[in-house]
Amino acid sequence: MGLSTSVLRPAILGFAHHRWVEGLVTRTRAGRAVASRFVAGETLAEAMAVTRDISGDGITAMWSVLGENVESAEEALHVREAYLAEIAAARSDPALDVVVSVKPTHLGLDLSVDACWSILEPILAEGERTGSWVMIDMESHAYVDRTLEILRLAHDRWPRSGVAIQSYLRRSADDVFALPEGCRVRLVKGAYLEPKDLVFRSKREVDENFRRLFSTLLSRDHPIDVATHDPSLIEGVRARVDAMEDGWSRVEFQMLYGVRPDLQRSLATQGYPVRVSIPYGTEWYPYLTRRLAERPANLWFFLSNLMRTR
Ligand code: FDA
Repeated sequence: MGLSTSVLRPAILGFAHHRWVEGLVTRTRAGRAVASRFVAGETLAEAMAVTRDISGDGITAMWSVLGENVESAEEALHVREAYLAEIAAARSDPALDVVVSVKPTHLGLDLSVDACWSILEPILAEGERTGSWVMIDMESHAYVDRTLEILRLAHDRWPRSGVAIQSYLRRSADDVFALPEGCRVRLVKGAYLEPKDLVFRSKREVDENFRRLFSTLLSRDHPIDVATHDPSLIEGVRARVDAMEDGWSRVEFQMLYGVRPDLQRSLATQGYPVRVSIPYGTEWYPYLTRRLAERPANLWFFLSNLMRTR
């Protein structure tokens, strides 16, 4: 198990919850500088500009409005408006291929499943009407059952919807068998601080489970978004899908804005479908902490900037 996975990652995610740390990151130039590497900007227009830019390399986009854990229906309604505007913007330029991705707690899941569903459904309906996929992110383990319940409601009525499944969670091995038939799945390793008994703790186990889940999803005919920057997992998927007839019609690679842009371009240049997740908005702090925790070198980048610019 690498030091970064076993020790630094949980330490960074735990530390990030302190208010003074949040203040240090969000109120300094160094914090905003490191955030700008992973976040397209604060507005939809900035996300669109990045999308046009990467489309020149044959790379498509997935947009999400940053934010999570809203505490009132009013806040969730504002988020819904932002997503409806997003779908309209995506459709305004027929040259762009954009998928929309939402976080259930950003749409009121902490209030109740019913509240979240009533906020989400018009987004799904608009997605279906305009031909836009709406994907549902998977957040920390406490939300998995409720997120899958929402996915089932969604997929029943709006088939252009899908969900993320995390290979670090032990339960995912069962969850994949209970997904709606043919529903689109984004396969990820998982980005949250979780109780030790619920997750695989070594990179080797998380990767092995990723491979197993991919095989299960493939054999059960799900469209799969392989969302990782891990070269060995990417290579395995590439070899497997290359050998299938028409496999690339239901598998695509997905990566995060600001992470391994060289690999994104290289795969796209070779003709593989590549989509980049482009987050934008003002609520970037929790998202940034997950990116820092994945790769502690990002934290050193922040700290050295802080020393120079404070
Ligand atoms: P891993 O962490 O092993 O990294 C492999 C290599 O990628 C590293 O060696 C490094 O080169 C590079 N790398 C990875 N992260 C980096 C970073 N932050 N900065 C610089 N380099 C980095 N998670 C979740 O829990 N729910 C979700 O819904 C989603 N959704 C999602 C969508 C998309 C499109 C992607 C790509 C990822 C997610 N994730 C997610 C995040 C995911 O769970 C995971 O935390 C990250 O993708 C990092 O893990 P990798 O699979 O890249 O492997």
